Amino acid sequence: MSIQVRNLTHIYGKGQPDSQLALENINFDIYDEEIVGIIGHTGSGKSTLLQHLNGLLKPEEGTIVVGNDEITAPNFPMRNIRKKVGLVFQYPEYQLFEETVALDIAFGPKNLGMPEDEIWDRIKEVLEMVDLDYDEVADKSPFELSGGQKRRVAIAGVLAMKPQVLILDEPTAGLDPKAHKSILEMIQRVHEKEKNIIIFVSHNMEDIANLSDKVMVMDCGKLVMVGTPKEIFAQRDRLNQIGLNVPPAADLIYKLKDAGIPMADGVVSMEEAEEELYNYLRKK
Ligand SMILES: Nc1ncnc2c1ncn2[C@@H]1O[C@H](COP(=O)(O)OP(=O)(O)O)[C@@H](O)[C@H]1O
Ligand SMILES: [Mg+2]
Repeated sequence: MSIQVRNLTHIYGKGQPDSQLALENINFDIYDEEIVGIIGHTGSGKSTLLQHLNGLLKPEEGTIVVGNDEITAPNFPMRNIRKKVGLVFQYPEYQLFEETVALDIAFGPKNLGMPEDEIWDRIKEVLEMVDLDYDEVADKSPFELSGGQKRRVAIAGVLAMKPQVLILDEPTAGLDPKAHKSILEMIQRVHEKEKNIIIFVSHNMEDIANLSDKVMVMDCGKLVMVGTPKEIFAQRDRLNQIGLNVPPAADLIYKLKDAGIPMADGVVSMEEAEEELYNYLRKK
């Protein structure tokens, strides 16, 4: 399974005086089982791009191929896209509406025509993936849960449809550190289990560096950089120019370099920074 995006352009309110060129000639490939992190300042087009990948928005120009299907082809059935590509919106907990957690998770699979007995097995399976206890939460109202739990229920509802591509728009936004950590662990667990493509947006550069195989950088509707976390975060000055930062550990090493202290290139994680500092101090 792979994704190819070619010459993708999107204009909001085309022909109107306040029309907005939100995506401009975007091209990229995503390969089997990749985890892709998307970064970019607010308004750079991240959410617009994600909504094209599951057919919610139609491009002005360009094509998107998911697996063997060109989902941008005229009359391509939406239902078939939804089966393949699951999109979790920002603050998805606001969209919970059923009486119980189980019914909420069952909603998507039912709509896709999954058989009833399979749906119940799947509810158990996805609750486990998002680290919630079936016996404890299945019959509860989603509104009785904490913020972080609600978000995990909403994500479980998308996972229940077995998407081969899982897209998460700012999945950790607004969560406390504990809930934040549990979402990151969940992403890794889901990826290990489902071997799917995962695409997520985050403003937390450390999370992006830790989770992603590939990082895509958006600026003013354009895809301006694509590479491994190491390749991307080796370009601090370019990132700073477009209002973005490097992870804290990389930032520290850059600051030492700025101060004339010799440090290796390509330091991204805390562990690498620690090793680099240790080596420097030992040599001194
Ligand atoms: N529904 C909409 N109607 C008109 N303009 C929009 C709409 N949604 C987003 N935009 C505009 O498109 C651009 C990209 O927005 P968005 O994709 O939400 O960026 P991001 O997710 O990176 O913050 C912004 O200029 C934004 O104001
Ligand atoms: Mg957004």
